[in-house]
Amino acid sequence: MVKICAIGAASQDVFISGKGIRAQLDPQTNEYVEKFKLGAKLNVETITFATGGGATNAAVTFARQGLDSNFIGKLGHDIAASAVIAELDDEHVRTDEVVYDATLGTQYSTVLLADTGERTVLIYRGAAHTHNAAEYSKIDYTKYDWLYISSFAGAMEALDAVVTKAKANGVKIAINPGEGELAKMAQLRPLLEDVDIIFVNKEEAAQIVEGTELEELARHMTNYVAVAVISDGPNGVVATDGKTVVRAGMYEDVPVIDRTGAGDAFGSGFLSQWAQGKSLKDSIVFASANSTSVVTQIGAKGGILTANAKLHEMPLSEKPF
Ligand SMILES: Nc1ncnc2c1ncn2[C@@H]1O[C@H](COP(=O)(O)OP(=O)(O)OP(=O)(O)O)[C@@H](O)[C@H]1O
Ligand SMILES: [Mg+2]
Repeated sequence: MVKICAIGAASQDVFISGKGIRAQLDPQTNEYVEKFKLGAKLNVETITFATGGGATNAAVTFARQGLDSNFIGKLGHDIAASAVIAELDDEHVRTDEVVYDATLGTQYSTVLLADTGERTVLIYRGAAHTHNAAEYSKIDYTKYDWLYISSFAGAMEALDAVVTKAKANGVKIAINPGEGELAKMAQLRPLLEDVDIIFVNKEEAAQIVEGTELEELARHMTNYVAVAVISDGPNGVVATDGKTVVRAGMYEDVPVIDRTGAGDAFGSGFLSQWAQGKSLKDSIVFASANSTSVVTQIGAKGGILTANAKLHEMPLSEKPF
């Protein structure tokens, strides 16, 4: 059985939605905003508690796909941590190497969910902001075939320790860098040389390499990594392993209820198949199906597909690199 460890953020997420929370077009910036009068009391109709954080979301995809799934990240000593651990236990994700921060709380997100499925997130990062190299150097990575690294809150020394030690032990590495890592490009780029797969969206890809089109970005990305997978929301995705280039469109035109976890479901969905030896094309189809399912439910984990989920065809083309 393939052994994967998802490493990075864990959080408790509370989703709040109702008539009081609406997406409004700001005529000055032409961007959608959610805004409230200071001092207002707004009634909300729906409240959903869930757990999140890119690494726990990914770990649940791996477990539901029947892989040996593990999570490593930082939690506090609080109720949110208990909720995270309880959910991962239920999902058969191992958590015995979780690191606890002595003083800070577990990451906690308040998600103001608009009627469009887009949302504003108020994040207390707490323990998830304090990854340090010493804690991650101690871990024995040899027992894993793959590491899936999600957002590391810009803790580049800790990230370097993970990548260097995992690579030295022959562990393959997939990464979905967060905002914090992308903001430290000079430290991120050299690390990518040790990475096997990168998952980024179009805007993130354009911060790492030159280019404007998905295929161009994916090709340039192979200067660093073996496999590049670049998504662009409902517009599709381009992936390449340096041998073939796969371009895929929208898997299904679904009503988007909550897009939280789309990227996590996509990257982890891809790796859950690729790590089992599936083709680039089949891995993309599953990634697309998994992320499309996730956006139809509130929370990042509810829609994650199980191993017996039935997939259908999607618009997709394949050509030599
Ligand atoms: N509106 C949508 N309708 C259908 N599928 C979607 C939609 N948005 C995202 N997806 C699915 O999720 C995948 C990843 O989405 P996207 O490219 O927006 O990633 P991302 O920007 O990294 O997301 P995140 O904000 O979660 O990190 C897409 O390739 C697609 O399969
Ligand atoms: Mg993303």
